[in-house]
Amino acid sequence: MSLSTKYKELDDRNQAALLGGGTERLAKIHDSGRKTARERVKDLLDPETFVELDKFVTHRNHDFGMEKQKILGDGMVTGYGKIDGRLVYVYAQDFSVFGGSLSRANADKIVKVQDLSMKMGAPLIGLNDSGGARIQEGVESLAGYADIFYRNVQASGVVPQISAILGPCAGGAVYSPALTDFIFMTKGTSYMFVTGPDVIKTVTHEEVTKEDLGGAMAHNSKSGVAHFRADDDVQAMMMIRELMGFLPSNNMEDPPVKPCTDSAHREDEKLQTLIPDDPNKAYDIKEIILSVVDDHNFFEVQQYYAQNIVIGFGRLNGKPVGFVANQPAMLAGVLDIDASLKAARFVRFCDAFNIPIITLADVPGFLPGTNQEFGGIIKHGAKLIYAYAEATVPKITIITRKAYGGAYCVMSSKHLGGDINYTYPSAEIAVMGPDGAVNILYRNKLSDEEKSKAVYDYRETFCTPYKAAGLGYIDEVIYPRQTRLKLIQALEMCENKRQTSPPKKHGNLPL
Ligand code: HXC
Repeated sequence: MSLSTKYKELDDRNQAALLGGGTERLAKIHDSGRKTARERVKDLLDPETFVELDKFVTHRNHDFGMEKQKILGDGMVTGYGKIDGRLVYVYAQDFSVFGGSLSRANADKIVKVQDLSMKMGAPLIGLNDSGGARIQEGVESLAGYADIFYRNVQASGVVPQISAILGPCAGGAVYSPALTDFIFMTKGTSYMFVTGPDVIKTVTHEEVTKEDLGGAMAHNSKSGVAHFRADDDVQAMMMIRELMGFLPSNNMEDPPVKPCTDSAHREDEKLQTLIPDDPNKAYDIKEIILSVVDDHNFFEVQQYYAQNIVIGFGRLNGKPVGFVANQPAMLAGVLDIDASLKAARFVRFCDAFNIPIITLADVPGFLPGTNQEFGGIIKHGAKLIYAYAEATVPKITIITRKAYGGAYCVMSSKHLGGDINYTYPSAEIAVMGPDGAVNILYRNKLSDEEKSKAVYDYRETFCTPYKAAGLGYIDEVIYPRQTRLKLIQALEMCENKRQTSPPKKHGNLPL
């Protein structure tokens, strides 16, 4: 064979691989409002940086006439490229080839980039769009899934792992994304469930649509499985790029610092009057976050789920931080099961990847009720304590208003290892709120007038920051307008924080 024929052969193979399952099936993907696997990879990465691996891999199946249906790449696009100049690995399931289903061969392609991402210390981004296990391959496909799960777990806390669900993701296939750090879903074109509407109808007689059961909003607002909702594929890729800007490439690195033109000394008079005089009046905690972060840029995580707590990333003087903030504007900022789980997982993520945690506390306590008790608020609340106590990254706390009861302890208190604990002058730190306290202390012994006086006295004596500040549990009572500067000063103080935990195989998180 002449050299030119050899080049021609390579050209032909490259062309064939790019076509996946063929123009007709690719067009069908567009018709459904989705992008193709290759288009997604292109949108995700910096221009001209994608390097493809295993482009000529084919399946090795001989059942059901599959030996006659081999497609180069076997429905999986894998490789590496850059986001903002930093290395990432990527895999993208190509729905045009056997519905993006997972074969032994294309599972091996994912496994290869998983191994590379761990070895080279760079994040892995998975773009999921698949009919699940390649039915023709049986247990070989299941083995492929389990190999992927195993590596998801090995990589957890070593490199950031991001999943986007951009089409179907059903059955056991959901568990690889579930093992990763963040899940993005697209509105109207993606769904995730362990068992679909038909099986549910047979087993429980419930009727539910795919969208209601496992669409983007179902998982962003109800189950808490997903962290982000995008309007479409392009927006999802842009959002992943934005998220990556806050994350280090691996657990041995610090998160990336960006040049900051926003003055550390910038004060905000608005914050002086944000907390209402009436302790029962709500305000939006996000106003504080948006006020203090660089350029007012806050990247919220799980914004539709357990809205009584707010989590997300921002920068302070160029350095990424994670915020955990009770939200008085939703259920008075109470801690319930969902809020505890949402915050605990986020705290653990930040700790795993060296991202300092800023906690804004305004919490009346844990939510009472049989639903909460039977649902296990004890063990779920314990997860948040566990997460904060175990975290060794810098932990800075501000109590803006209420810190009552166990919730005072939980929200990154000094006693759980808070490095700097501030309060606003409006802080109320006590075992419980004045009404509850007076009811217990005096039962029904007081007239209405005496009761009001007792409530007033209790508030004046205990519902202030000064008891806690007098004991050194609070390092400083700050002026709200100086919040940004105070946070930046505390972070700078913690810059070289060294803290190790006792050696152990692993702890026993109350699951
Ligand atoms: C092989 C598959 C496939 C699969 C789809 N295809 N799923 N081939 N294995 N799992 C093929 C179809 O035969 C079809 O081929 C092409 O992909 C496109 O599929 P359509 O059905 O035409 O597309 P659409 O109407 O969009 O429906 C998509 C779908 C549906 C909802 C995903 O295909 C579907 O229900 N597939 C089966 C899903 C499933 O039950 N998977 C197993 C789940 S259990 P042609 O040649 O016609 O284009 C599982 C266990 C994992 O995954 C366990 C891990 C622990």
